[in-house]
Amino acid sequence: MPLVHAVNVSKSFHHNEVLKGIDLDVDAGQVVCLLGPSGSGKTTFLRCINQLETIDGGRIWVDDDLMGYSDRDGKLYRLKDKEIAAQRREIGMVFQRFNLFPHMTALQNVIEAPVQVKGESKKAARDRAQSLLDRVGLGDRTAAYPAQLSGGQQQRVAIARALAMQPKLMLFDEPTSALDPELVGEVLSVMRELAADGMTMIVVTHEMSFAREVADTVVFMDGGVVVEAGPPADVIGNPQHQRTKTFLSRLRSEHD
Ligand SMILES: Nc1ncnc2c1ncn2[C@@H]1O[C@H](COP(=O)(O)OP(=O)(O)OP(=O)(O)O)[C@@H](O)[C@H]1O
Ligand SMILES: [Mg+2]
Repeated sequence: MPLVHAVNVSKSFHHNEVLKGIDLDVDAGQVVCLLGPSGSGKTTFLRCINQLETIDGGRIWVDDDLMGYSDRDGKLYRLKDKEIAAQRREIGMVFQRFNLFPHMTALQNVIEAPVQVKGESKKAARDRAQSLLDRVGLGDRTAAYPAQLSGGQQQRVAIARALAMQPKLMLFDEPTSALDPELVGEVLSVMRELAADGMTMIVVTHEMSFAREVADTVVFMDGGVVVEAGPPADVIGNPQHQRTKTFLSRLRSEHD
């Protein structure tokens, strides 16, 4: 089974059907970039994967674990909050806004969850945090508070913090869209390295050059459905559907 196996996922908010039967498979070590216009359901889908939202229909497996439910003879039973929290710990998430704890240094931000949630020793957590901060190019800024770091640096700390939990899967929701243009590259290059090291990633992004170079699969969503999915050379380079073409040309004109 693929590391992520989502089948016919649906989700409504009140009467607004936001996801209308999404299928997605992601093999271990692969990178999927998710594109689509505002409101198409990208964030909602990521939040369903790690059970920040409950789903109304369909099923999502991550590493053979049915997310949020146990299946007894074809009937689904909601897992206890504690069990869902345990599933969620296996998945790292990086948001558009960095969401660092403002009163903690970069190092403290990174060791917080391993120590508090996993009960790791401070020494072990600190050693790994140091090497993770080295890896994202911030080995010399471990004592800085978020307010003393640029947006790009904060986002790299946020990535290190997610990695500190040793996730099986990383979800990124427009991780560079709140950054000044000159800071985008440093975050994308950390994500590139992560992908090259074999991390399984689902990335909502409108950075087309990143998607072209790094994604194994590009998925274009619109109106809560997957319109088109495939290798970037197809979906970005030679889209088949009018909605994809329109979206990409609008994106290009915004860029120029
Ligand atoms: N908690 C919520 N309650 C009600 N409606 C919601 C909620 N979250 C999202 N929605 C609605 O679901 C739809 C999809 O939203 P979502 O945030 O998933 O889109 P998106 O593709 O991530 O858009 P963007 O590119 O703007 O981030 C929108 O119509 C949105 O208003
Ligand atoms: Mg979104």
